[in-house]
Amino acid sequence: MTITTCVFDAYGTLFDVAAAARLAAAEPGREEMAASWPKLAEDWRRKQLEYTWLRAVMDRHTDFWTVTQDGLDWALEAAGLADPELRERLLALYWELPAYPEVPAMLAALKSKGLATAILSNGSPEMLAGAVASAGIGAFLDDTLSVESVGVFKPDARVYRLVAARFGRTAEEVLFVSSNGWDAAAASGFGFRTAWVNRSGQPMDRLPARPHHVLPDLTTIPDIARK
Ligand code: LAC
Repeated sequence: MTITTCVFDAYGTLFDVAAAARLAAAEPGREEMAASWPKLAEDWRRKQLEYTWLRAVMDRHTDFWTVTQDGLDWALEAAGLADPELRERLLALYWELPAYPEVPAMLAALKSKGLATAILSNGSPEMLAGAVASAGIGAFLDDTLSVESVGVFKPDARVYRLVAARFGRTAEEVLFVSSNGWDAAAASGFGFRTAWVNRSGQPMDRLPARPHHVLPDLTTIPDIARK
């Protein structure tokens, strides 16, 4: 089946989620973060995701901005860095995360081949609009789909169904790309073709389905989408 539509996870896939802690740590007066920022970034991300899954299981949905703040508060306390000014700075940086360097050319290549492109993310519409604008990639995207329209987080199937509802395509025509192994695996189980972008060489998640492709970055996505 020909791929007609390429759909991307946002945080960690198109946008560098570790950048907020890394950039804050490099600012004057934050020398105390020089050694601790990678763990802060990792704890923040892990708790943010845990809270999405837990809230889905508990049927207590809230938006991604709330779980992003809750995850950060946990991570700051764990690091002994519970400082309101640092908290505000990290949250501000989260609204303007940089895209990975290969993202604009990769999206431009997909558009030049005539594929539809979109984001499908846990992010709230406002957060995603901010990230897309600050990364300057809006011209390469046909749409930005947020879980907020179904009120539950990934990997609930209602989220993946948003793609068919928007583009009117069957699941086999969609290449779904995520840096989250669990997201790529769940999307495979849903019926999409999938690529897992495994930048840090993590082990494969032990879940009922597996990604079709495992890639070190996004540069070969246009080649995969053409097959
Ligand atoms: C997202 C998270 C899972 O963008 O990275 O949906």
